[in-house]
Formats: sequence, structure tokens, C-alpha cells
Amino acid sequence: MKIGVVGAGLMGGEIALVFALGGFEVLLHDRDAAVLRRAIDRQTALLDKGVARGMYAASDKDEALARITPVAAIDQLSECDLVSEAVFEALDVKQAVLGALDAICKPGCILTSNTSTLPISTLSAALAPARRPAFVGAHFFSPVSRMALVEVISSFDTAPATSARVIEILQRIGKAPIVVKDVAGFAVNRLLHAMLIEAVKLVEEGVATPEDLDTACRLGLGHPIGPFALMDAVSSGLCLQVQQIMHDAYGERFRPPALLKQRVAAGFVGAGRRGWTRSSIEGAPKAEQ
Ligand SMILES: NC(=O)c1ccc[n+]([C@@H]2O[C@H](COP(=O)([O-])OP(=O)(O)OC[C@H]3O[C@@H](n4cnc5c(N)ncnc54)[C@H](O)[C@@H]3O)[C@@H](O)[C@H]2O)c1
Repeated sequence: MKIGVVGAGLMGGEIALVFALGGFEVLLHDRDAAVLRRAIDRQTALLDKGVARGMYAASDKDEALARITPVAAIDQLSECDLVSEAVFEALDVKQAVLGALDAICKPGCILTSNTSTLPISTLSAALAPARRPAFVGAHFFSPVSRMALVEVISSFDTAPATSARVIEILQRIGKAPIVVKDVAGFAVNRLLHAMLIEAVKLVEEGVATPEDLDTACRLGLGHPIGPFALMDAVSSGLCLQVQQIMHDAYGERFRPPALLKQRVAAGFVGAGRRGWTRSSIEGAPKAEQ
């Protein structure tokens, strides 16, 4: 089986890597040649880390890298048996990529999307009716090389044989797929953002500091990382974007907190001085209601 991955950014680069480590030949495509080069460098660094930690032998690293071929043109994925799409989270971009894949991929090729927020049934509409049964959501988690979970989401048209096949392939590469309905945020982002919203509200109310709430989640709930460190890692801007989509879908319970909106508008979105855990929030202007 040959796997294709479109989009070699944070997610696509590592999705290609886990398929290669699982023994599959992988063609990795990005429209940006520099991104493709950086993806290979990152894969090499991750494999070096894996070897240093005794997760696999140096020969496994060389074999995995040899299985990944960067390709400059999407047409080169025409012979793939499964193509995973991991391009920007924008409906028009994903529709264009899926339409192009539909046109060039051989009949029977399965297409999957790594979207976090776009409905799988909406994306499916970008495909010709004959391809829709072979399209399914396969939502990986970051960092893909460490997170075993994958949410598998069927559209109205996905054939049960397609999701069953994708689940089998994911299990073969050591992932733990779960089946989730095509609802906004799927399952994990609903759980996660309910917690992130509450964490920001606790700070708004002055109940505890971001640092102490991170400590609470790590040492009281056994989470590997606290909610504020997590928001800094994935960016507060992305969290706000997801919460706005979930607010549209579910109403009041997912309304993004005012403090999060203010911080994002002011550019306080990432790690370091502009992150939750290193900068004082005392000076922030009073949250609008
Ligand atoms: N970042 C996360 O934590 C995370 C987690 C789960 C799912 N996702 C989803 O995964 C997808 C990718 O996210 P990411 O964080 O890797 O984004 P990213 O910005 O790091 O990478 C996206 C890549 O897609 C490429 N691209 C854009 N349009 C293209 C096109 N037409 N043809 C070929 N390549 C194209 C870009 O050059 C870029 O390298 C999104 O749908 C996102 O919602 C992200």
C-alpha cells in the first residue's frame, strides 16, 4: 500500500512519519518546497530523538526516512491507496485540495481529512458522488508521533467498509482510533474546550493564577500539561477560533471568555512573554461583557 499526505506542516509532516514508521511507503506533498524540506529535517530530528531514547534502532530510522518521498506536484499521488489531507484549516483550501485529489487518485483510493473543525459531510460535497463513500475524517492529535488517539468520523456518504479499513490501517501503525459522529468539535475538542473555557473563567474571577491552575491540572487531575501551557503551545488564537465555531454550534456553553478574546486581539497568543504563564495578566484592561 502506498500512502499520500498533502500538507507537510506541523501535522502532515508527522502523519507521514508515523505511516513510514508503520512500514508504509509515503509520498509527502506540500505546495511550499521550503515546508517540505523543513518537514524532512523535523522527521529526521524526531527519529534521532526516538533512537536516543531507545524507542527504535538506528536502522529503523534509516528505513523510515527512506520510505518517505517528498513530491512537488499533487499529481504524483495518483497511484496512492490512501491519501491523508492536512492542509490549512480553511474550507476553500480543503475543498480545492480534495477536488484535485478526487480528479487524480485512482478509483478505490481512500481519502481522509485531518480537519479539527470542518464538518466531514461538508468536505465530502467537494468530491464527485462516486468518491464520497471512500472519504472519511481521520483526526490526529499533536504531536502526532506521541499521541496515539485518532478520531474517525464518517460523513453521510462514508461506506462502512471505508471507516473499517481506515481503523485497521491506523491500528497497524500503532494508533488508537475511536469512532465519533460528525458534530462540531467531534468529541475531544468538546471535552477540551469545556475545560479551557472554565480555566480562563477561573482566572477572570481571580480564583487562581494560570500557573496554579496548570499545577492543579497536572498534580490534581494527572494531566500531562496544564490548560494554560496547552493554550500557549497550540496558540490562544487557534483556541479562540475553535471556541467561536463551537459557540455557533452549541450556544452559550461554548461562548469564548472575554479575557481570551481580549488577549488574542492584543496579540497575546503564544508562548513566552506573550503567553499565559509568563506574562502578568494584572495589567489587562477590564474584560468587556
Ligand atoms: N496544529 C494542531 O494542533 C492540529 C491538531 C489536529 C488537527 N489539526 C488540523 O490539521 C490540519 C493542518 O494543521 P497544521 O497545524 O499542520 O497546519 P500548518 O499550517 O502547519 O500546515 C499546513 C500546510 O498545508 C500546506 N498547504 C496549504 N494549502 C495547500 C495546498 N493547496 N496544497 C498543498 N499544501 C498546502 C501549507 O503550505 C502548510 O505547510 C488543519 O486542518 C488543522 O485543523 C491541527
